[in-house]
Amino acid sequence: MPSYLVTGASQGLGFEFVRQLAANPENIVIGLVRNKASPETKAKSQGLTSIHFVEAQYTDLASLKAAAETVRGITGGGLNYLINNAASVSEVSELRTLGDFHDNFEVLEEDLKFSFDINVVGLIKTVQAFLPLVQAATAGEKKVITISSGMSDLDLINASELAVAGAYAISKAGVNVAVAKYNALYKNEGILFMGICPGNVATERQTRGFQNEEDKARLAALAAKFMQLAPDWKGPMAPTESATAVLSLAHRSSIENGDGGSFVSRHGNKNWM
Ligand SMILES: NC(=O)c1ccc[n+]([C@@H]2O[C@H](COP(=O)([O-])OP(=O)(O)OC[C@H]3O[C@@H](n4cnc5c(N)ncnc54)[C@H](OP(=O)(O)O)[C@@H]3O)[C@@H](O)[C@H]2O)c1
Repeated sequence: MPSYLVTGASQGLGFEFVRQLAANPENIVIGLVRNKASPETKAKSQGLTSIHFVEAQYTDLASLKAAAETVRGITGGGLNYLINNAASVSEVSELRTLGDFHDNFEVLEEDLKFSFDINVVGLIKTVQAFLPLVQAATAGEKKVITISSGMSDLDLINASELAVAGAYAISKAGVNVAVAKYNALYKNEGILFMGICPGNVATERQTRGFQNEEDKARLAALAAKFMQLAPDWKGPMAPTESATAVLSLAHRSSIENGDGGSFVSRHGNKNWM
């Protein structure tokens, strides 16, 4: 039975990934979460009884290693798919440029460190903890799929003059390099590492909205840039649509196809919208 572990599975795309994967009774599906009470209740209320929720803190290697031992017990030893989805989108700088912090640099410095700690170091710790399980998979595929963001694509940033969300985008650029480094290291073992951007998705984080007028205006300016890039863009898509596209791409991608170490959109190319 193919086994899947999705990090950040309590809400948003992470929950949608485990929900869709659990629709196939052949799959063993594990959601890694910081606190399992709420996702377990949500899953139960939707009749999803086969998902295993396991707790860990992404910045704490010991807790990730303990979670890996629990997962070993669930899968019987190996893991076919590690899907690194957990990440923090900094609310401090999400709609602000690096220049907006000239007068309070320490806020930006904290934000950069926080984003790097969760999104890059947290990812590397997660791989460190769970890679032995992927290596131990005796049947089926061995894939480590990392959810990245087109916000870190240099061509997109330059062409659209996307100056906001520096801490997040810089951390995702680090994520993309980490994926390529892992590919260089483990490709010959037959483990596919790749980064996929899920597109602009109406997860809880996106739909919460902004309270103050200044942030609303900043968000409208960002949306205008997206519209310029893709005039047909209708706003963030539903998590179901994005998760289906990402999982489909993850399933059909392979080292043989040349996907190792790549950073692509859910379309499998550099079309981020
Ligand atoms: N939504 C979009 O439009 C969009 C666009 C491009 C890329 N992405 C990427 O897609 C992935 C999922 O996005 P999403 O919108 O579903 O995100 P989300 O719901 O805000 O967060 C995903 C998960 O990340 C973990 N997380 C969030 N903040 C954290 C923090 N401060 N410390 C530690 N863990 C934290 C949580 O894990 P637990 O469940 O374990 O608590 C959460 O469930 C992310 O990697 C994101 O960067 C999203």
